[in-house]
Amino acid sequence: MTGASANHSSVHRPVMPREVLAALDPRPGHVVLDGTVGAGGHARLLLSRIGPQGLLIGIDRDPAMVSLAARVLDAPNVWLLTGSYARADGLIDRLAAEDSRFAFAWTQHEAAVDCALLDLGWSSDQLADAGRGFAFDASGTLDMRYSVEVGPAAWELLETATQEEIADWLRRYGEERYADRIAAEIVRRRGEKPIRRADELARLVIDALPQSVVVRARRHPATRVFQALRIRVNRELEELQQGLNQTLPRLVRPGGRLAVISFHSLEDRYVKKAFSGPWWRALGKPVTPTATEVQVNPRSRSAKLRVAERTSRMPEPPAEECAEQ
Ligand SMILES: C[S@@+](CC[C@H](N)C(=O)[O-])C[C@H]1O[C@@H](n2cnc3c(N)ncnc32)[C@H](O)[C@@H]1O
Repeated sequence: MTGASANHSSVHRPVMPREVLAALDPRPGHVVLDGTVGAGGHARLLLSRIGPQGLLIGIDRDPAMVSLAARVLDAPNVWLLTGSYARADGLIDRLAAEDSRFAFAWTQHEAAVDCALLDLGWSSDQLADAGRGFAFDASGTLDMRYSVEVGPAAWELLETATQEEIADWLRRYGEERYADRIAAEIVRRRGEKPIRRADELARLVIDALPQSVVVRARRHPATRVFQALRIRVNRELEELQQGLNQTLPRLVRPGGRLAVISFHSLEDRYVKKAFSGPWWRALGKPVTPTATEVQVNPRSRSAKLRVAERTSRMPEPPAEECAEQ
């Protein structure tokens, strides 16, 4: 990759950093799990609060992001892992089995997390990398995977799925009103030439939509289509559901906190539901960025932060570990 390669520094700005710190309230000696560590923007701030007696575990599905995080989180009480937060318990167990220094520190901290953070979706570093296919104008491959372990890339899915499947993804994950029309155009075009690039897909969507919709659009007309594909490629909603309802309840101690930043209503619905379920008690109202932050960091404009406290209910023992990370 290029944008977030080891030769580049991060272009990502952490969203609502002050609000995240206030919500999680990390204290010296706490254990922090950043399940979407990205370039380490939030994690660096959290680390400064927990001090050398604390423990920070950072996880990201994208190995290139883990490399970027390692640059700013170079401390003996930080462990960075490549994999999904949805399987954080398995990753941590494996680390404890392989690394005696971590095993000692983890046991000293009662093998439980005080503060966990999920900052969902892609980072600006991944968006800036034309080879990843996240951006509308990307001339590289329409890949969209956070990790090559995940499964087929977006272009492969578009090449093999039926028109009905594509329309279903666009409706379900993008809430796209013109799903049938766009799916039909994808199938027609791929019959002429494979759709391999993000900019080709963006152009195709514009061509498929009624002209009046394109003219009136306040965002890029392909926003919903790109969101839908990215969610489908990375199975983002399944990961979120597993993380919120199974994995994090096992790791976060009763009374510990979980903060989640979501960027669209589908994700937020899952968070809201989990935070009214048996494992979490919502704290306060959802928080959105200030007008100043949105001005400085336009990516933050659709962000919503929810925070919850872990209830005292005890979870089931972990299910059998899954091979995929
Ligand atoms: C918005 S960025 C996080 C930015 C980070 N908070 C910071 O301040 O630098 C989201 C990150 O989550 C990662 N990601 C997405 N799905 C994931 C999953 N299921 N498990 C772990 N990481 C994931 C992406 O690769 C991306 O680096």
